Amino acid sequence: LMLLDNLDRLPLRAIKLYDNDEERQNKVAKACEILIKEKDPNIEYLATTCPKEAYTDVDFCLAHIRVGKLEMRELDEKIPLKHGVVGQETCGPGGIAYGMRSIEGVLENVDYMEKYSPNCWMLNYSNPASIIAEAVRRLRPNSRVINICDMPIGMEHNIARIAGLKSRKHMDIRYFGLNHFGWYTSIKDKKGNELLPKLVEHIKEYGFINGEEGMKNDKKDSWFETNLFTKEIVKTDLTTIPSSYLKYYLFPDYVVNHSDVNYTRANEVIDGREKEVFGSCALIEKQGHSKGSGLKIGIHAEFIVDLATALAFNTQERMLLIVQNNGAIENIQDDAMVEIPCIVGKDGYEPLSIGKIPTFQKGLIEQQLAVEKLVVDAWIEKSYNKLWQALMLSKTVPSATVAKELLDDLIEANKNYWPKLN
Ligand code: G6P
Ligand code: MN
Repeated sequence: LMLLDNLDRLPLRAIKLYDNDEERQNKVAKACEILIKEKDPNIEYLATTCPKEAYTDVDFCLAHIRVGKLEMRELDEKIPLKHGVVGQETCGPGGIAYGMRSIEGVLENVDYMEKYSPNCWMLNYSNPASIIAEAVRRLRPNSRVINICDMPIGMEHNIARIAGLKSRKHMDIRYFGLNHFGWYTSIKDKKGNELLPKLVEHIKEYGFINGEEGMKNDKKDSWFETNLFTKEIVKTDLTTIPSSYLKYYLFPDYVVNHSDVNYTRANEVIDGREKEVFGSCALIEKQGHSKGSGLKIGIHAEFIVDLATALAFNTQERMLLIVQNNGAIENIQDDAMVEIPCIVGKDGYEPLSIGKIPTFQKGLIEQQLAVEKLVVDAWIEKSYNKLWQALMLSKTVPSATVAKELLDDLIEANKNYWPKLN
């Protein structure tokens, strides 16, 4: 829907849908065909489970895969909670388990792309993005993959609203960190005025919620809680605006105490968004048109159009990407995959220089970076010990004993997806 809404700036010759699960693809394929026909009948359309058909003659591959689907996400969230540890799909043990499942699937897709459309760009937002980015850096170092996450877009959307600006595009930001693990150090309006200190005052009270109005009217789902809780995180460093995901690392006890081991975010998504989308698609298919279907464009999808447009038309737009550090953050190792602002044009991206970061953030980043690198080591070497070390080092896990108990449960649950560890 976001692509169809932006044809004026990113014209499309064809759209292909690729999935390796035909039954699941069928739930949306016909509806997509109808939506595209309604918007522009000249756009060619194909839904396929054949990699060759899918990847041939493609300029951009917008990649988001979920190895193990939402059923495995549910276990990523529930197994840690049983051990009294944060259960989240990308942070902590859940993210580690998901990373171990995803690497092979992502590499498979990168290889198809290189085989059938060697000049294609893969715009990859498969999770857990940090671990995927590190695996691709290590195992497919020359591939045309750009890793990006929608989380900063969502946060900037909230920040812009709090600042009273119409759009996040009316701000220039400075930010550094790892994926789902970062800090804004500057938010300026287009006149160059620094807005950060005033924003921090607001966030201290309401997090990313838009004041009393948001407190009253926003849907009270788990995202509301995550956005609101940023008011506690910001107090850990009042000179920056933190990623809301830092709650999993800095306040894990709070998170665990406020989780329901029998009903996690995966359940909310299965019972909510997934049902709604499949329901809308079934309706469109039955009616033969999309009127009254209830399908909506998610604002967070916009970044992918921005990125493709920047590459196709050399817009030199500034975007947050997950890229190899190479000195951009001066006091973090060169081979870290960091999330920093980059200028994007037709030949790819150029990272902006960040300089030295403070001890607090440096310490946190280096610990989390080691976790992510150890996961990729463990996957490559099929090493039980490296994965145990990854879990031990995660700030969300209290001890080596708990890490081991968790690991053994995760191995059992993921036996159809992980390499066999020695
Ligand atoms: C944010 C993150 C994504 C993550 C998503 C999960 O958008 O940036 O990495 O996949 O949240 O959202 P959900 O609604 O599925 O819990
Ligand atoms: Mn993300």
